Amino acid sequence: MREREKMKKEAAEKAVDFVESGMVVGLGSGSTAKYAVIKLGEKLKDGSLKNIVGIPTSNATKRIAEASGIPLTDLNNVSKIDLTIDGADEVDRNLNLIKGGGGALLREKIVAQASEKEIIVVDESKLSEVLGEKFFLPVEVVPFAAEAEKRFLESLGAKVVLRKKNSGKVFLTDEKNYILDAKFKSIENPLELAVKLNERAGIVEHGLFIGMADVVVSAGKSGVKILKKNSG
Ligand code: A5P
Repeated sequence: MREREKMKKEAAEKAVDFVESGMVVGLGSGSTAKYAVIKLGEKLKDGSLKNIVGIPTSNATKRIAEASGIPLTDLNNVSKIDLTIDGADEVDRNLNLIKGGGGALLREKIVAQASEKEIIVVDESKLSEVLGEKFFLPVEVVPFAAEAEKRFLESLGAKVVLRKKNSGKVFLTDEKNYILDAKFKSIENPLELAVKLNERAGIVEHGLFIGMADVVVSAGKSGVKILKKNSG
């Protein structure tokens, strides 16, 4: 396994230590969160965890969770989620995030806001001083508005591309929307940008997760670090 892949696995598996028997657990999406889902399945199998119910944040994660033997339920069947483990594309020092590289940002944000505790798992390459320096901002839009929202994002200073699959076909989210990938030079004030995007009709959701992460588990060459909200 390559070094970065090992770090992703290490961070994700460490986060599973936060899960306790009887919890409703939000199951994140992407290549890092996947390792947490698999580990959770293993702990259920060996009996070190019991009575876990999972809520997947994407159809892809649902398939991995089913294959791992994790009992699943629907968000509509629970009053809250105890804990969610999810990945991120970029994390700043205030634990604000960019998410949505895999296109699952809408369900991920819905699950995050229903969660008592949001744990983010990353390798250290995702940590940055200012959001946007490393990654584009995924913005989910209704197909009807795609061109208008592209122009709107450009007016805010971003270079914007409509996300496509390798086949050349337009990428569709689980909710059948489009994703515009908006590259800003840097996002100095993520809250201000989030408010502008929230107010805009046609934008369904965006990948700025402000103040939503409680803990970030980051794996690097010198081991795993646990970063907590407001810990500086
Ligand atoms: C999915 O839409 C994303 O928000 C992922 O959580 C994020 O892209 C991180 O994915 P990786 O762990 O694959 O980098």
